[in-house]
Amino acid sequence: MSENITGMKRTHMCADLSAVNINEKVTIMGWVQRQRNLGGLLFVSLRDRSGIVQVVFNDTIDRETFGKAETVRSEYVLAISGTVAPRNAENIKHDMKTGEIEIIAGEIRILNKSETPPIYIEENLDANEAVRLKYRYLDLRRPDMQRIFMMRHRIAKIARDYYDDNNFLEIETPILTKSTPEGARDYLVPSRVRKGKFFALPQSPQLFKQLLMVSGYDKYMQITKCFRDEDLRADRQPEFTQIDLEMSFVDVEDVLDVNEGFIKKVFKDVLNIDVATPFTRMTYVEAMERFGCDKPDTRFGYELINVSDLVGSCGFKVFSDAIVNEGSVRAINVKGRASEFSRKVIDALVEYVRTYGAKGLAWMTIETDGSVKSSIAKFFSENELKALVNRAEAVPGDIIFFVADKNKVVYDSLGQLRLEVARKLNILNNNIYNFLWVTEFPLFDYDEEAGRPTAVHHPFTAPMDEDIKYLENEPLKVRSKAYDMVLNGNELGGGSIRIHSNEVQSMMFKLLGFTEENARERFGFLLDALKFGTPPHGGMAFGLDRLVMLMAGRDNIRDVIAFPKVQNSSCLMTEAPGNVDDNQLEELGIAIIIQPEE
Ligand code: AMO
Ligand code: AMP
Repeated sequence: MSENITGMKRTHMCADLSAVNINEKVTIMGWVQRQRNLGGLLFVSLRDRSGIVQVVFNDTIDRETFGKAETVRSEYVLAISGTVAPRNAENIKHDMKTGEIEIIAGEIRILNKSETPPIYIEENLDANEAVRLKYRYLDLRRPDMQRIFMMRHRIAKIARDYYDDNNFLEIETPILTKSTPEGARDYLVPSRVRKGKFFALPQSPQLFKQLLMVSGYDKYMQITKCFRDEDLRADRQPEFTQIDLEMSFVDVEDVLDVNEGFIKKVFKDVLNIDVATPFTRMTYVEAMERFGCDKPDTRFGYELINVSDLVGSCGFKVFSDAIVNEGSVRAINVKGRASEFSRKVIDALVEYVRTYGAKGLAWMTIETDGSVKSSIAKFFSENELKALVNRAEAVPGDIIFFVADKNKVVYDSLGQLRLEVARKLNILNNNIYNFLWVTEFPLFDYDEEAGRPTAVHHPFTAPMDEDIKYLENEPLKVRSKAYDMVLNGNELGGGSIRIHSNEVQSMMFKLLGFTEENARERFGFLLDALKFGTPPHGGMAFGLDRLVMLMAGRDNIRDVIAFPKVQNSSCLMTEAPGNVDDNQLEELGIAIIIQPEE
């Protein structure tokens, strides 16, 4: 039988008790971490979200209470009253917050029992993740998980306070809405009253926040859910949270400035880390040239080296052909670590770069006598080899890797190789926080399949003033006023200055392949609004989950979302998405024509 709580009132959280409470009568409530019966003496470690405290039951003092304590098991829910007492010197636990004291039990009530849980409720548990997610409510009882969610709460609170201090207003925007293009598929919600019509869940509040600028709210922020039906990765969920904001009468630097101020504050307040501002600004072109990637991890070197001009007429066809085909040959020099690259390790790296489209990976090592060892050395003249070694600033002990291909493949494969090598050599220091802004992203990408440009950020991003002249005839040359905030190779957030002219926005839609009718149907409300005095404006959004993940030192976003989804976008606990009744479908006017595979 479980008992009720009548007449008992919690006075303290378990781990808030310390030597200052000695001799106080206290009442605590929580879950049994462990019960140890030494016969005559019995210990219960009681846990709540603050931590754990030890309670002592003594057979000779109170036989009945002792008898009750003997029946408790792990995860039983208890209310215990007792007196705080110092531990004997030899029993003091310095690694425990409440390690100097214990509670001498007076009364115990068993508020509820528990079956043996399918996972241990303990710190840094190494249990099968599927089981953890099926019993997520138990997984969330674990102290390391509880610390994450307490941290997440603080980060969100600091965000609200910080932006409030800077005159931002939090305004909610709709969840049942129209498609907002952020590059993913929409989640659709059928309308019952207008059969055959659908709402889309927002991929972001993008258009609404821009309309709030038209309405004169000047500075908006919101911590809100976004929904994107896309393939999951370690840093992506179909449903995630943004710290979203927008500002009027600003240019790029104003947005960067206020947002790095937030990062500075949140890192100081939560982790006591001083982040230096302003962050480095790196153009997209520089990021690609140096790191092969638009979210560079700058904690280590191995930067890309362009050797195209040195190999155009060399005897290695793979290299010279790449140049003829308007590609490039680039290298990274892994300084001083050649001895750690056995044939086997290199073979694995060749396979690794293949997954990024490279057709191979060439390498050279510099021997102690300064000579070059490489399977492709025979294709180069002595002078060519010397020029390559000089360009790579290579000295004995270095190993240089080369990829030749179209630029995109070279950037992708070497950009990723650099990270893979850093991981393999174990040189990534997690105590360094390298923030930077990547700026001047191209406005468009070219979609080979569709045969036309697509928006790199989103279709509302403004071109750089000096590039507007290329918009009509050479759109791929246009740089945008878009920026991303990057931390140690992770994209923490991104945004842009927006188009505030109806004409430019219309031209943008045209370039993206929308017919006039099509653009009106999807974005008519925006095009109309742009006619009624839209101020210049811009903003950005942080991925809150990613921020928490990086601040909590986790490498998976699922760890910082209370009830996350797995790879196939389902929830292992609720088993959503699920079936619905035929009645419900009928009401919505929906027929399922493809039966789900079981
Ligand atoms: P963007 O699409 O770059 O911009 O998103 C902003 C930030 O949101 C986070 N994020 C995600 N986090 C978890 N799971 C996902 N599936 C996911 N997708 C994005 C990232 C990303 O940097 N409306 C614009 C912002 C703006 O222009 O103001 C937008 O949504 O951290
Ligand atoms: P092959 O002539 O194909 O036997 O290649 C000789 C060496 O060049 C091997 O080490 C290959 O991995 C490497 N290689 C092949 N293609 C490329 C490429 N596109 N870029 C860099 N190295 C390559």
